[in-house]
Amino acid sequence: MIDKRAFILDNTGLAQPPHVPEISLYLASEAHDLWLKTEDELEEIGLPPPFWAFAWAGGQGLARFVLEHPSIVEGKRVLDFASGSGIVGIAAMKAGAAEVIAADIDPFAEAAIALNAGVNGITLGFCGEDLIGRDEGWDVILAGDVFYDKAFAGALIPWFAALCDRGAVVLAGDPGRAYLPKERLQPVATYQVPVTRALEDSEVKRTTVWRFT
Ligand SMILES: C[S@@+](CC[C@H](N)C(=O)[O-])C[C@H]1O[C@@H](n2cnc3c(N)ncnc32)[C@H](O)[C@@H]1O
Repeated sequence: MIDKRAFILDNTGLAQPPHVPEISLYLASEAHDLWLKTEDELEEIGLPPPFWAFAWAGGQGLARFVLEHPSIVEGKRVLDFASGSGIVGIAAMKAGAAEVIAADIDPFAEAAIALNAGVNGITLGFCGEDLIGRDEGWDVILAGDVFYDKAFAGALIPWFAALCDRGAVVLAGDPGRAYLPKERLQPVATYQVPVTRALEDSEVKRTTVWRFT
């Protein structure tokens, strides 16, 4: 079995996402083999696509928003859903959240999030279960870059709507992914987020932070 912590340290380097330079993360870059591996090559070594090794545009935008508007999370119980590297949850803790649970079903995400939280001097809770449809009383739900897959988005939209209806604040950062819902969303901020051309089709992605209404 792969030692996940060692794998992450071997295949990434500490870097600052360009739109959130006050946060450091273990990220893949041109300097690392992981950068160029195809999904088939990754599957051979037992690795799902390493979402946790990149700071996605939606997460960078949402993390920026939370740092600029700390009152959204101050003293609150926050869920960073589909946390990946943990970028959004780290921003929420830095902004004064009482507690952040980072949730991601990728088994490497837990190790990546622990490393990334540690390097930023904070602690995040972690949940590796699929939380879709559950409600554990969070005050704020943050979701960075989650509307890229039809089935995933289809499951998230009614869940986010239900959480919003019972009074939670639900915010999503999204750079115009294909399955972004068209209803019940109010834009609260827009950023130009530098991204990696090899992952995206451009060098900058216009990224909006949306609030469910
Ligand atoms: C594009 S990445 C975004 C990561 C991070 N939020 C960011 O913006 O950098 C999407 C993440 O969703 C996670 N994911 C997919 N299905 C999930 C589920 N049912 N529950 C929790 N996380 C999930 C993936 O493992 C991946 O880490």
